Amino acid sequence: MTTPAPTRIPLAGVIGSPIAHSRSPALHGFWLRRYGIAGHYIPMEVSQADLAEALRMLPRLGFVGCNVTIPHKEAIIGLADIVTDRAAVIGAANTLIFRKDGKLHADNTDGLGFLNNLRQEAPHWVPSSGPAAVFGAGGAARGVVWALLDAGVPEVRIANRTRPRAESLRADFGARVQVVDWTQGASMVEGAMTVVNTTSLGMVGKSEFRIPLDALDPRAVVTDIVYTPLETPFLRAAKEAGCTTVDGLGMLLHQAVPGFERWFGVRPVVDAETRAAVLAA
Ligand code: ATR
Repeated sequence: MTTPAPTRIPLAGVIGSPIAHSRSPALHGFWLRRYGIAGHYIPMEVSQADLAEALRMLPRLGFVGCNVTIPHKEAIIGLADIVTDRAAVIGAANTLIFRKDGKLHADNTDGLGFLNNLRQEAPHWVPSSGPAAVFGAGGAARGVVWALLDAGVPEVRIANRTRPRAESLRADFGARVQVVDWTQGASMVEGAMTVVNTTSLGMVGKSEFRIPLDALDPRAVVTDIVYTPLETPFLRAAKEAGCTTVDGLGMLLHQAVPGFERWFGVRPVVDAETRAAVLAA
């Protein structure tokens, strides 16, 4: 009589440093319970020095993949065997798959999460209806700019306090990107149909977003990647101008969908209960 091979419980998680405040374990844990999947998703504090070694060990321990967060999102590109086109152009990855052939597959789903959040929360949003205006040119902005261009926005205007970072986005993403001086940020929103804050301004404990938004078109869809607080002063000002506003929590929820589906075999739905579960964590 042969004993059947034990079925392995799939493991996934998020690696970063610091990791204690990540909302991803609450999100994936909620979906695992909701879909009755015998899997686990855990936060893992991994330093830069240990990153390569950790990635070698995780598949041997039963991990099918993981998310990667600050400060490893860029470094992971150099460690992966297969990098998706979008992760390569964004220059960072957040979702890893440990393939059965031993290869490390790296993708970036931040831009997709940004798009799917807008599509779900502002269904009338038409990316091609006019230019987009993006505040900030950091890591998060790269995913957002990729997404806007991929969705068919005709022009992306970017203003960043440190102008060379915006110039580098133009160099990487091409002529549809226009660099605007940070001091001209107020006029950048004129005629823009999509307006995004990707800076940390307005986040709890950070400086305020002080650029006036009087020139906003009320037809614009306005979103912030900051989600603490859910309604940032930036979004409040946009609401007062009559715009449709979309908060940043949905981007976090939607970026997690492709990873969960690949690791655990079920495409999870982002809905009000999902939001509530993450907010309660
Ligand atoms: P992330 O990966 O979250 O985008 P980041 O790469 O550190 O993090 O980028 C943070 C963004 O917020 C940048 O656009 C940054 O502007 P700089 O490139 O000039 O640093 C912007 N930011 C942070 N604090 C700011 C402030 N006080 N005023 C204006 N912009 C600020």
